[in-house]
Amino acid sequence: MIITIDGPAGAGKTTVAKGLAKKLGISYLDTGATYRAVTLAAIQAGIDLEDEKALAELAERIDLRLDYSHGDMQVILDGSDVSEQIRTSEVSEKSHYIARCPKVRDILVNLQRKIAKHLLQSTGGVVAEGRDQGTVVFPDADLKFYLDASCKVRANRRYKEMLSRGQQADYQQVLQAIRSRDERDRSREVAPLTKPPDAIEIDTTNMTADEVIEKLYQYARAVG
Ligand code: DC
Repeated sequence: MIITIDGPAGAGKTTVAKGLAKKLGISYLDTGATYRAVTLAAIQAGIDLEDEKALAELAERIDLRLDYSHGDMQVILDGSDVSEQIRTSEVSEKSHYIARCPKVRDILVNLQRKIAKHLLQSTGGVVAEGRDQGTVVFPDADLKFYLDASCKVRANRRYKEMLSRGQQADYQQVLQAIRSRDERDRSREVAPLTKPPDAIEIDTTNMTADEVIEKLYQYARAVG
């Protein structure tokens, strides 16, 4: 079973995808992590983020893996675990350069499909979350969700998440960053964030993560 969850930054996709996958006894795939890993690699290599050719070459060259052997999904870039490093605000702010590059997207979409195939074989199902999972990567998914929430609630969630990671954060700046990421995600030419026409839309503004997980779980049970 393939379940997709798309939606804007801070809608709760990662927490919900993880929780739903756990409840169903299947795997989860955070595809934003793959864009973040390429962003980190580009920053480390000192590549001009406007240079799409250099970014595509980099995406071809790097060895990017997702490791599930310790339970949680870990992101391994050229042999090093970068799961924490890809969560900095610098990477969050710069990832849109990578996300708008068509060749990089092709490479990452292929990687995501390959990983999902592997996860399907090993655990029988995958909950894939991102911006284009139901529209581009898995258009034939068994079940599609689109999570959304008000801008302020999403900013507040990101703000708390950053504090819990021990990062410095300013709520107003986080809110501003969420607004510009929304604008960029929705207006880019390739694979912009849109609700798949066949997705179930859930407004999580006034819901806890557990309530959202339970709701999605009920839909998933009904599908099989
Ligand atoms: O969900 P996130 O914040 O970890 O996403 C990181 C970046 O990758 C963000 O710029 C949106 C982009 N992204 C994307 O374009 N397509 C996806 N399927 C997932 C993320």
